[in-house]
Amino acid sequence: MSAPYLKQLQWGIMERLRVVGGARLAGTVRVSGAKNSALKLMAATLLAPGKSTITNLPEIADVEYMAELLTRLGCSVEVNHQSSQVVIDVPQKLGHRADYDMVRKMRASINVLGPLIARELIAEVALPGGDAIGSRGLDFHINGLTEMGAQVTSEHGFVIAKASNGLTGAHITLEFPSVGATENIMTAATLANGKTVIDNAAREPDVVDLGEFLIAMGAKISGLGSHTIIIEGVKKLTPTNHATLADRIVSGTWAFAAAMTKGDITIENGRADHLELPLDKLVEAGAVVTTTKNGFRVKMDKRPTAVDVATLPYPGFPTDLQPMVITLNSIADGTSIVTENVFEGRFMFVNELLRLGAKIQVDGHHAAITGINQLSAAPVAATDIRAGAGLVLAALVSDGVTIIEDAFHIDRGYPDFPTQLQSLGADVTRI
Ligand code: UD1
Repeated sequence: MSAPYLKQLQWGIMERLRVVGGARLAGTVRVSGAKNSALKLMAATLLAPGKSTITNLPEIADVEYMAELLTRLGCSVEVNHQSSQVVIDVPQKLGHRADYDMVRKMRASINVLGPLIARELIAEVALPGGDAIGSRGLDFHINGLTEMGAQVTSEHGFVIAKASNGLTGAHITLEFPSVGATENIMTAATLANGKTVIDNAAREPDVVDLGEFLIAMGAKISGLGSHTIIIEGVKKLTPTNHATLADRIVSGTWAFAAAMTKGDITIENGRADHLELPLDKLVEAGAVVTTTKNGFRVKMDKRPTAVDVATLPYPGFPTDLQPMVITLNSIADGTSIVTENVFEGRFMFVNELLRLGAKIQVDGHHAAITGINQLSAAPVAATDIRAGAGLVLAALVSDGVTIIEDAFHIDRGYPDFPTQLQSLGADVTRI
């Protein structure tokens, strides 16, 4: 860990954030590469022996965890946060096991499954187990690999996939356009024998970024960004360099922060084209959104109007921004319904918002929110990365000082969030 705050993280110092409510956030923030791309790109380097370089890397704890996992698999990994890049030297022969301590820390660890079965014809990946945002199965991943000829069993808490005779291309229809399953099947298929078709594939920009990385390595892939991805297996892939796509969830979080604090934030490197629906919702709430030379700007000069939202796979409203929209609706003018269609457990953080005085009723996968003028500061706890960021926004529009426990969750996805918030005028400190 090279960055000072990541060092502190390693020593377990930064457990809490202290947020003083009432600030109007204004200024410019620069958004770096997406967590959900960078981690997958790092895992996919396993497909090609030799040195691959990934640039525009976010300075977050999960990058360090993925570096550790790849090191355990036999790679030599050099993360350089000054130049925001990682160089991964992949050996000819890899280990094939991802242990529970890694998978538990970071769900993206399961993205080594596809590359390992493709390269080593065997992969053992610990089952992720329960997760704070609902049960996140692996059945779509397993069904896909099975259709490609792998024998998959579950033993002693591990998914064990073997393809002694190699993987063969197959026509796979996903039950749900799962991001992780699309990625694992796509990476496995790059080195399989013949053609693989993934129907009902995930269309997220992260999946497209990974596909483009694989193409740069020599993979034959078409249909990225559509419901049908086609992969023609090749004999081998070669290492390459790739810049990580800008983080649309971090960009979206800043957009909501501007709208909620009656602020004015320019999001440099932000991709408005990857946030069409969330930005439309902010306009509906009363914000002015404009594109700039290198990003976009969100400005708000009144109390937001409540907006109804239903989360859906891309290009629908992202589930990762659901805590932000619930928080906005908590202080908006009017009542609203937010429906969660992707992760069943994601309303857990509503309990924390209730502690801040929000008026929310949850019924199944619907939350009915009655906006109030201001939230009221209280101690709260982050339950996952996005819930943590949502609570920071809630604290910013509360009266008084909010202490957020378990703030390490936020560091997993938001590069040095407190410093960026301070640069926009917020009073946020780590304690
Ligand atoms: C990824 C993102 C996460 C984001 C989510 C949806 C990473 C590391 N995480 O998670 O931030 O919120 O996409 O955009 O990139 N499911 C099954 N069986 C499976 C796979 C998934 O039932 O085999 C279910 C999940 O429980 C969930 C839904 O499908 O209800 C969507 O999951 P998926 O798209 O796979 O999300 P992740 O890849 O885990």
